[in-house]
Amino acid sequence: MPDAPAPIGVVTVSDRASRGIYEDKGGPAIEAALARILASPWRAVRRVVPDERPVIEAALRELADAEGCALIVTTGGTGPAPRDVTPEATEAVCERMLPGFGELMRAVSLRAVPTAILSRQTAGTRGRSLIVNLPGKPSAIGECLDAVFPAIPYCIDLIGGPRLETDPAVCKAFRPAGA
Ligand code: MTE
Repeated sequence: MPDAPAPIGVVTVSDRASRGIYEDKGGPAIEAALARILASPWRAVRRVVPDERPVIEAALRELADAEGCALIVTTGGTGPAPRDVTPEATEAVCERMLPGFGELMRAVSLRAVPTAILSRQTAGTRGRSLIVNLPGKPSAIGECLDAVFPAIPYCIDLIGGPRLETDPAVCKAFRPAGA
């Protein structure tokens, strides 16, 4: 029997998108990037939430614990403005942080914009879920996901999630020999 599609959480964090004032452009941009990168079956579990820490934390917990998402990607709320609280919510629900994700995404984004250093985006694990923050700008989404995705399938192997395969023409996932 073919593998069931892996659920992937796609979380837009935005006061205005959650109230319908803005069209959500971040969530569709994440899904477009995943569709380009992934070769194994997956399905998006979407959420649009305001910049409220308890609401973001509840969405992340639900996607990890109830929906069983191996990967949860957020967009928005990573900057220095008072209502930007996505990294705090991520840290609050994660058992372990993976600071290398934020470091690499900022380094890659810096080639595009000097304000890349304003993003506090991070990543971490909760149980069998990997949570990765992206900035809110739609153009940042592909740039950041392309940079870190080569390490994501093996990270998910290590935490006991499903085996994700990438399209090697788009993204060469790295797994150590024998993995
Ligand atoms: N990264 C990329 N690749 N492209 C961008 O345009 N914008 C930066 C930064 N990272 C940007 C980026 C800016 S201006 C800000 S304020 C921070 O991300 C935080 O954005 P956020 O609060 O929407 O998450």
